[in-house]
Amino acid sequence: MNTHTLDKVLAAPFCKQTPPDFHALFSERARAIQSSAIREILKVTERPEVISFAGGLPSAATFPVDRMRAAFERVLSTNGRAALQYSTTEGYAPLREWVAAQVGTPQAPVSPDEVLMVSGSQQGLDLLAKVLVDPGDTVLVETPTYLGALQAFSLFAPNYVSIASDEDGLLPEALSDALRGAKFLYCLPNFQNPTGRLMSEERRYRLAERARELDLLILEDDPYGALSYDGETPPSIRSLAPERTVYMGSFSKVLAPGLRLGYVIAPTALRAKLVQAKQATDLHTATLSQMAVYDVIKDGFLDTHIPTIRKLYREQCAAMLAALAHYMPEGVRWNAPRGGMFLWAELPRGMDASAVLAKAVEQNVAFVPGAPFFAANPVIESLRLAFVTVPPPRIEQGVECSPRRKPGSSSLILLDSGLRRNDGFGILQRFLSGPSLRRVTRGAGSFRSAFSARYRGSRYGVVACSRRIAPGSTG
Ligand SMILES: Cc1ncc(COP(=O)(O)O)c(C=O)c1O
Repeated sequence: MNTHTLDKVLAAPFCKQTPPDFHALFSERARAIQSSAIREILKVTERPEVISFAGGLPSAATFPVDRMRAAFERVLSTNGRAALQYSTTEGYAPLREWVAAQVGTPQAPVSPDEVLMVSGSQQGLDLLAKVLVDPGDTVLVETPTYLGALQAFSLFAPNYVSIASDEDGLLPEALSDALRGAKFLYCLPNFQNPTGRLMSEERRYRLAERARELDLLILEDDPYGALSYDGETPPSIRSLAPERTVYMGSFSKVLAPGLRLGYVIAPTALRAKLVQAKQATDLHTATLSQMAVYDVIKDGFLDTHIPTIRKLYREQCAAMLAALAHYMPEGVRWNAPRGGMFLWAELPRGMDASAVLAKAVEQNVAFVPGAPFFAANPVIESLRLAFVTVPPPRIEQGVECSPRRKPGSSSLILLDSGLRRNDGFGILQRFLSGPSLRRVTRGAGSFRSAFSARYRGSRYGVVACSRRIAPGSTG
């Protein structure tokens, strides 16, 4: 553009420089997008003083930074031009071969031609919805399910049907004959996000059988399977019904999410369509990331690295369970996951986790209410606790003060350590909601030293006590 024209463009009257009305320009599809409840909460949790059980992030302490640095250097110095050039949509062949060998089983081998490398398994969810879902199609999801999948699928306006689940995962018998013709079932058998549940082996067999009866496609999303605390998981759904299962894996939780690297394993006819959709989306996944990851993992690094992640997460999970057992009032229930990064809790009936979150955030503690993880009929009392980014002492601190009372705004009920548990405390709990009531045991020191620092600013009364203590305030 020459100077004369540039001057004229810049000199346009201000009224003509107002931007277009973007809201009017948005497509129907874009208007339907809702911002993720988790991302909104995460904004608050960026403050360093906040103890956050909200985000689904892996622990940054597990990222093999030095190895990755060396791998990037090695790739750039030995194969730099190829690493920086455009490449195939399917992905880096040696990495696809590695994935095929890793996921395949003797009964259900995987061919590298079935593997598509994607920019995080989240992209796999998007591509699958793109090529499979028309508006109004029936999509089956667990109850609750991964919020990011609901977001990805919802762009294509499916009709969700929630499939009942319990502690052992989804219930195959809930897949009734009426669901024949559904586009697919999306399921997370290993340490599910958000609940941390592991689907039992028997249910997996029954699910594979039922899917065959209904001629149903299964999307099996498995970013957490490697994070079993005891190293064991039942067979994948893909290994039981390879002809009708699309398997998704990710390097986000075993290496680092910033690499944006995952994979989809799909029967070849479906993979061909996914490749076309990916071409239109981003041409291919970053070659440099793929080559560097392959360089890191090709000689068995994950065999030693993953056990260190498991150990760390097992300890953090134990710290979370211990803190919950110690501090949560009666009526709050939670599960004990055997792997992964999440735990699922339910507050007493009628207590809305979003309202509790608002109070918790004031006290610098955050978690994610469970409601957004339900495609329909949310359980408002539910919440997800992600424990792997918080060191154990902070886990205890976070659970203890969620929500911490405002100075002078709540009451504290005391109990002398000399009394048995079966006392007036339980009766009071039925009348008072959790956060305003705490059992405080005395230990060897005085009551004041036992609770005044911890519960600064609280008023207190006494339920039962072996000594006379007048109601007062910890100031
Ligand atoms: C169940 C599930 N699927 C997929 C993803 C996306 O992972 P990726 O980083 O591979 O895109 C996540 C991320 O937290 C997840 O929890």
